[in-house]
Amino acid sequence: MIRTTKFAMGLAAGVVTLLVAGCGGGTPIGGNGDAASAVYVAPGDYDEFYFFTSGGFSGHLGVYGLPSGRLLKQVPIFSQWAENGWGYSEETKAMLETSYGFVPWGDSHHPQLSQTDGVIDGRWLFINENNTPRIARIDLTTFETVEIIEIPHSAGNHASPFVTQNTEYTVAATRFSVPTPQADVPIDSYKENFSGMLSFVKVADNGRMSIAFQILVPGYNYDLSHSGKGPSHGWSFFTSYNTEQANTLLEVNASQNDKDYIAAVNWMRAEECVANGQGEQWTSNYVHNYFNDQHIAVSDMENGTTVITPATCSDMVYYLPTPKSPHGVNVDPSGLLIVAGGKLAAVVTVHSFTKMIEAIENEDFIGEVEGIPILRYESILAGEVENPGLGPLHTEFDGRGYAYTSAFISSEIVKWSLETFEVVDRIPAYYSIGHLSIPGGDTREPWGKWVIALNKTTKDRYLPTGPELTHSAQLIDISGDKMRLLLEFPTVGEPHYAQALPASLIKDKQVRIYPLDENHHPRATKTEADARVEREGRNVRVYMTAIRTHFMPDNIEGVQVGDSVFFHVTNLEQDWDVPHGFAITGANTSELLLMPGETRTMVWLPTRIGVYPFYCTDFCSALHQEMQGYVRVSPRGSSVPISFNTP
Ligand code: CUA
Repeated sequence: MIRTTKFAMGLAAGVVTLLVAGCGGGTPIGGNGDAASAVYVAPGDYDEFYFFTSGGFSGHLGVYGLPSGRLLKQVPIFSQWAENGWGYSEETKAMLETSYGFVPWGDSHHPQLSQTDGVIDGRWLFINENNTPRIARIDLTTFETVEIIEIPHSAGNHASPFVTQNTEYTVAATRFSVPTPQADVPIDSYKENFSGMLSFVKVADNGRMSIAFQILVPGYNYDLSHSGKGPSHGWSFFTSYNTEQANTLLEVNASQNDKDYIAAVNWMRAEECVANGQGEQWTSNYVHNYFNDQHIAVSDMENGTTVITPATCSDMVYYLPTPKSPHGVNVDPSGLLIVAGGKLAAVVTVHSFTKMIEAIENEDFIGEVEGIPILRYESILAGEVENPGLGPLHTEFDGRGYAYTSAFISSEIVKWSLETFEVVDRIPAYYSIGHLSIPGGDTREPWGKWVIALNKTTKDRYLPTGPELTHSAQLIDISGDKMRLLLEFPTVGEPHYAQALPASLIKDKQVRIYPLDENHHPRATKTEADARVEREGRNVRVYMTAIRTHFMPDNIEGVQVGDSVFFHVTNLEQDWDVPHGFAITGANTSELLLMPGETRTMVWLPTRIGVYPFYCTDFCSALHQEMQGYVRVSPRGSSVPISFNTP
């Protein structure tokens, strides 16, 4: 990990000045008197943009409004979420299944909105899980995770889930190379036995994901990705570091080479090779989770993927030499410039797609690794941005001819011209900026109003909260010549990356209720007259309804110690934003939160005799406090029969 101290302090004195400015103990930086009005959204008014941030190690997604920075929702994805029973209720547990079994935690990194013709279309949001490699899809009409697919033969799914121009694919690459397929080998046999994998996950017209093919590549660390657009549509680019292939103390050992590589992948060529049968069928067990038409998550164990290698499929992968341990790779709106953030490099490298194609045609190679030709740096270079800040990481674009690069070590955003590659403006960020985001800033048509800095730590910027301080985002106006800081707001989890879209794109498509007559849950109870309790051996099934302001039934007897009680609760409401909750004493799980028209199930294992209350956990009306009931629990073998009240 890069720390300011050793690295930056050894550099020019000007840097130190910048650092001081960047963590100024509450000093407003770049502020302006009318900044407040630029972000003020009056009570009752809507924000202009939705802003989606990764929840990092929370495993979730944050949804904010811009320009206000108001938190609207957290969407649970890779981690259990007690607030609404995600990963706890019987209908959602399967979403967290993997080939390793039930994994209740994940590390979400990069939200990526679906695109059509290189423009954000508002259908879905994809997000990767870094730790146990997975990609999730969130439906932007319900703000619910509807599908999670595991990526086999991968480890550390960081270069993911960046989409191609028409969302043909979402990608996934190995951050930590491993023996592929997995094998019991000495760790120091890394160079002989470890590989990386670049996976292309097909996205069907209805959003459904499937692993189309995987490309076996040398054992480097594949870090980030973006796909081509316009003229470069059909290509995807992946940064790599650790071309040294070190397997210990990477901070030094993976920082030796002057240049690492960007892997340029011609995925249309890969499709040809797969169609020609040049792929190999590998045994690959991975789990694919999705909601079925009953709105119940199911888990399929999938077997087998098609693996192709650059050696058997020529003209598919090329290496672009890139200084130095490149992190981000970004393609400008024209699709012709490929910008690399070499985090230890003194310049920002900009490759030319046109020159890359020429160099490939001229076979202007300086070598080859495992069937991958290495192009000549000088032949593919469009330009180098001088003085781009220290530790350049990521670049986004405003659609008006400028690029914005985040510099981690010097804690700033640097604006430069895509024509002259000259820096034209810079603004300090807080210690320390990671990603940055312009709405649509990695697409063909950015909405270049603002750039949002996503900061790792924000010493002195907020009220202290013990050893851990909040993460934060900074909203910066980029509509004029000079960048202007407007707002800072705390973010939940770690906001690795974020994307935004105009609210008008999805606001009117929001699902308000689940229609009861379309509720196909096999244990749904659609009228109070159908509410009932049934014993099936040691399982007791409670078919329960919830409506303002009672449960039916709300008096249940005949349950015994040692039973498993299944509360199948259906919310009969058909009005927007009238959820009910359900909780019962001693349940070893979270509450249920039921959207209108929805059925969800909690399993309760009574261990003691007595009478136990249950109640609605979501404040639903003036008589919410009356929304309660009782279950009587008798000893095992008791003669108390199952009974319940009826309407
Ligand atoms: Cu139903 Cu509170």
